Amino acid sequence: MTLLDVWLSRSLPMWLLLQSLVLMALCFPSASMCPKGCVCQRFDLHHLHLHHQGLNVNCSQSRLKEIPGDLPVDTVVLRLDRNHIAAVPDRIFRGLALLRELNLSYNAVETLGEGAFSGVEATLQALDLSHNRIASVHKDAFARLKARVVVDDNPWHCDCALQQAIGGMAHNHEAAARVLCRSSELLDQEGRPFLAVDTDLCNLAKRTTDYAMLVTMFGWFAMVISYVVYYVRQNQEDARRHLEYLKSLPSKPKKPDEADDISTVV
Ligand SMILES: *[C@@H]1O[C@H](CO)[C@@H](O)[C@H](O)[C@H]1NC(C)=O
Ligand SMILES: *[C@@H]1O[C@H](CO)[C@@H](O)[C@H](O)[C@H]1NC(C)=O
Repeated sequence: MTLLDVWLSRSLPMWLLLQSLVLMALCFPSASMCPKGCVCQRFDLHHLHLHHQGLNVNCSQSRLKEIPGDLPVDTVVLRLDRNHIAAVPDRIFRGLALLRELNLSYNAVETLGEGAFSGVEATLQALDLSHNRIASVHKDAFARLKARVVVDDNPWHCDCALQQAIGGMAHNHEAAARVLCRSSELLDQEGRPFLAVDTDLCNLAKRTTDYAMLVTMFGWFAMVISYVVYYVRQNQEDARRHLEYLKSLPSKPKKPDEADDISTVV
């Protein structure tokens, strides 16, 4: 046996193992595979004296129509800005336990559901939603979010739900201050900053319904009353005319005539 033979016989199993590992890696995308159209880069992360690596996933200007479903689980910074993303599906970022920065600015997002950022509430530190088409959000869309949220340049519709959503991120006055009402429940608020709106829009909606109910009830009541009044008046008039007619009759009227009159009264 030569030395080469010995080496081959020992390393052959190793080779096979290595080959199957490579095959497996190709078949099953690993956690850190970069989504199509994005550029992924590792960077050093210093956090609480711990030293570990973070993953920067840059999908900026990638003509994306939706958020990639295969984002690496160790993503720390995610740039999705300047794409054509129209929706943020509930729980789409749920697996990203290390996500700190999310940039969704310059997209076509129209609304945010209750669970848009569920799973990343505690870790997310910066969220950029500026330059989208957001008019309204679920009242709990920003609830429990600790991130600094930027919401500038969206066509906000100022209503009760928005008041509740902003109330949910009370610590985030900076963001709230930049919400401009494109349209509103109250006409005079259009174009005004949302924080300057001091009306309680939720109670307003309730009050409006109450008021409508009251007006309707009053309307019905007035109709019934006027009908009763009209009916009584009409009857009084008839009775009076009849009495006069009876008085104007000769003292001994013919019987058939009288019978005829009585039937008219009845
Ligand atoms: C991300 O990608 C965009 C466009 O491809 C590029 O302009 C930008 O410099 C990149 N940013 C980072 C932080 O890598
Ligand atoms: C998000 O990306 C835009 C550019 O597309 C940039 O202007 C903005 O500063 C970024 N936001 C954050 C919070 O880094």
